[in-house]
Amino acid sequence: MEDKDKPGARVLEHKRIVVGVTGGIAAYKTADLVRRLRADEADIKVIMTRSAQAFLGPLTLQALSGNPVYTELLSKGSDAGMQHIELARWCDLILVTPASANFMAKLAHGLADDLLTTVCLASTRPILVAPAMNREMWLAAATQENKQILEQRGVRFLGPAAGDQACGEVGPGRLIDTDDLFAEITAALAPGVLRGLEVLVTAGPTREYIDPVRYLSNRSSGKMGYAIAQAAAEAGASVTLVSGPVALAPPRGAEPVWVSSAEEMYREVMSRAHHCDVLVAAAAVADYHCGVPALRKLKRGGASLTLTLLPTPDIVKAVTALARRPFTVAFAAETENLVANAQNKLEDKAVDMIAANDVAANGVGFDHDRNEIEVLWRGGSIHLAKGSKQTLARRLIRIIAERYRAKKDTA
Ligand code: PMT
Repeated sequence: MEDKDKPGARVLEHKRIVVGVTGGIAAYKTADLVRRLRADEADIKVIMTRSAQAFLGPLTLQALSGNPVYTELLSKGSDAGMQHIELARWCDLILVTPASANFMAKLAHGLADDLLTTVCLASTRPILVAPAMNREMWLAAATQENKQILEQRGVRFLGPAAGDQACGEVGPGRLIDTDDLFAEITAALAPGVLRGLEVLVTAGPTREYIDPVRYLSNRSSGKMGYAIAQAAAEAGASVTLVSGPVALAPPRGAEPVWVSSAEEMYREVMSRAHHCDVLVAAAAVADYHCGVPALRKLKRGGASLTLTLLPTPDIVKAVTALARRPFTVAFAAETENLVANAQNKLEDKAVDMIAANDVAANGVGFDHDRNEIEVLWRGGSIHLAKGSKQTLARRLIRIIAERYRAKKDTA
């Protein structure tokens, strides 16, 4: 995967993040996080509390962030005494990781006796807090009450995770993984073109069994649909991903619903379609199934075998026939007459938009990491040049957001 295609790569570009580090053994993990945020071109300024410096040297974070590390509330120099205001206004987001029980207590009660708590109090920007501490400290009534107070004021808690702790105990209080922290920061800073909307995405192949061990299927890997689900989540939507059998982990922020056959996908989609705002049907759904599969494995015989296939329900068509239908985007997998065939499907399935996918072209379509699509709607079209499925998915989501709003405006 190219760097620019990594989840969040564009989202973080030039975003200003204050990373606050408080005392705890997990402070060393901040080094890797800051390195990754910088690699995606975020601007980072680090504030370390006194106890944090006992676990990690400021020089490390200075080198990785490319900026001096702030350690004192009252420093000497021209901006003496005003740093907290400047930092509070400079940033787009404050992340405190690891956050100690002491930090939580101070912030909950407005005790601003160091630079980090002062910046948090002085800032109107989103604050994300990733706690890490001994499990008893985490579960202590005081800590839980402080958490509640902070949450009520809009502070977002990331974790903690449960598991083995540095102190030898097991339980809740571990800092969440750097991958998860990174994804949360990205989601929090995403432009949010679909914020507040419910998006349903279908992905992957379906399997139509002919006997207990054999099925009809296709080469869909789910990569395109999963990239769309991830891009929709990054854009602030609440995402449900109805997926056929694939070998991918569901993207963070999307709720997976696993299905196998076209009939199952039909049922899961139809039970949700009437209350979602947007449906993106990227799944390669079988057009035929074999009726009633044999109960036992079909025996090999000398004669030829004839399978009678029946049509599966057309999921997209059933959705667009609903009285309260979502903005519906289908894909058209074509091996010839790409645009004309896709145009026919746009009309036949009465969808709002269709992504025409030339699945006979080299290096794109089924199971490839890259794709190239022609997006069509009534009155317009746009070519999305060959690129990673992640990049295309983000571009497609932006187009969907625009067309969705245009349709709402004219309704
Ligand atoms: O999963 P990947 O390996 O990343 O590959 C991506 C992809 C090539 C599968 C994807 O980009 C794609 O083109 N998906 C649509 C595949 C397909 O089934 O195309 P179609 O032209 O046969 O169907 C048109 C539309 O009707 C699709 O949105 C499909 O989801 C939908 N359909 C089809 C059959 C059916 N019974 N019900 C449906 O809703």
